[in-house]
Amino acid sequence: MALTDFDLVLFGGSGDLAMRKLLPAMYARDVANDLPPTARIICVGRQDSGQDAFLKMVETNSRPHIKASTMNAATWSKFCARIVYVSLNASDANTYAPLVEALRDPELTRVYYLATPPHLFALICDNLEENGLVTPNSRVVLEKPLGRDLASAKQINAEVGKVFQESQIYRIDHYLGKETVQNLMALRFGNILFEPLWRREWISDVQITIAEKLGVGNRMGYYDTSGALRDMLQNHLLQLLCIVAMEPPTSIAPDAVRDEKLQVLRSLKKFTPTTLAQNIVRGQYRAGHVDGATVPSYRDEPDAPQHSRTETFVAMKAEIDTWRWAGVPFYLRTGKRMADSLAEIVVRFKQIPHSIFNQPTSSFQPNCLVIRLQPDEGLSLNLMAKTPGEGMRLKPAELELDFRESFKTPRMDAYERLLLDVLRGQLTLFMRGDELEAAWEWVEPILENWEQNDNAPIPYTAGTWGPAAASALIGRDGLQWREEALPED
Ligand code: BG6
Repeated sequence: MALTDFDLVLFGGSGDLAMRKLLPAMYARDVANDLPPTARIICVGRQDSGQDAFLKMVETNSRPHIKASTMNAATWSKFCARIVYVSLNASDANTYAPLVEALRDPELTRVYYLATPPHLFALICDNLEENGLVTPNSRVVLEKPLGRDLASAKQINAEVGKVFQESQIYRIDHYLGKETVQNLMALRFGNILFEPLWRREWISDVQITIAEKLGVGNRMGYYDTSGALRDMLQNHLLQLLCIVAMEPPTSIAPDAVRDEKLQVLRSLKKFTPTTLAQNIVRGQYRAGHVDGATVPSYRDEPDAPQHSRTETFVAMKAEIDTWRWAGVPFYLRTGKRMADSLAEIVVRFKQIPHSIFNQPTSSFQPNCLVIRLQPDEGLSLNLMAKTPGEGMRLKPAELELDFRESFKTPRMDAYERLLLDVLRGQLTLFMRGDELEAAWEWVEPILENWEQNDNAPIPYTAGTWGPAAASALIGRDGLQWREEALPED
């Protein structure tokens, strides 16, 4: 479906996200000929630097993030011709005149992308309304962080909701734009094979890991007030969990999918102070080695508070109180400065009930489905197979599906996909307001407990898989994190 003409307005247009992700994503779609010839990207910033200086900034800060193979002078200048820089003070309605002037026909699709700190969301929405800029064809995109607790998330929903209808609000979780996440839905609901087994009778446990080698970099101001639970678990990990655990939606229409995700969030077992202490591990990295280079401790990163108690790692055992999942542990884990950068979902099936072979049941590796999101996109399914030759000896073997190999079609990065969805008006891959609140509601007792107790996170060495307590957490159930169970190379 071809896109109709639009004005895309980027608040925070000179910021890091716009430069590193949003403009390169729009460029990629421009090169792919997805954008109507007259579509515009209006970048809003405070600096009164003017159009030429802004385009220079895009050249310096955004162009390096574009795939070199897609770059040439003609496509770049065509893309730059779409960009209009508008300077205003987002929190002052009286300064919006340049935006009023830059926007075209109110009949066109208008997307207001708020890549700003969340305290500006409500103000910007009010100011857009006050200036008569909110049309029936307008949409608003809200970037992370969508609040820092339940109260602030509710406030954002209520205030943005005064100006925009729910069907006009696009809450981004960029993990939902990743190919493999959508492929997980294809796997579950486009095949007959897995769904009958996708339940407590046949699945023993699920692990979801997002590990990064990166540290906090230059985002200390934000990160230290956030931490891994707010930054990664409340959103990305819970969204992945929802897609693994949800009941089959009736279709992929936005509310059909979002209703089912909401049910999962509402069925997550609430933590009490006791279960929380037993089932959650918080960590913070200390100096170590990543890819052979020495990296500093979190507390020695630029601008880090000396005695910061912010967690850079969290691991937990969560449970879902439904007929399908009762008693199946979902182990969630995320951290910075880990041994490797990867994102994966591991679904382990139960052990066979009885061995007919001349080897004990315990020598059978339970079937295991690994869904890899990063660094490469793929699936692997561990099976037991006969080793060649005489006799009957079974050993684990792998069925591999590499999405890049199987589908040679060019891929889109998550922001490309999500921006196109916003421009097309497709809400399925965005969070609904009640979903956002349900996720915060579940996380809230953990945040409160940590705040009250003010316990220091457990130190772990950068370049490792986190504190030993995280291995002990899963080890208590007789299990291991996947990479700990893999044979050494
Ligand atoms: C962001 C977090 O939402 O996701 C970052 O704020 C994190 O801290 C990033 O690094 C990870 O995303 P990806 O797509 O690189 O795995």
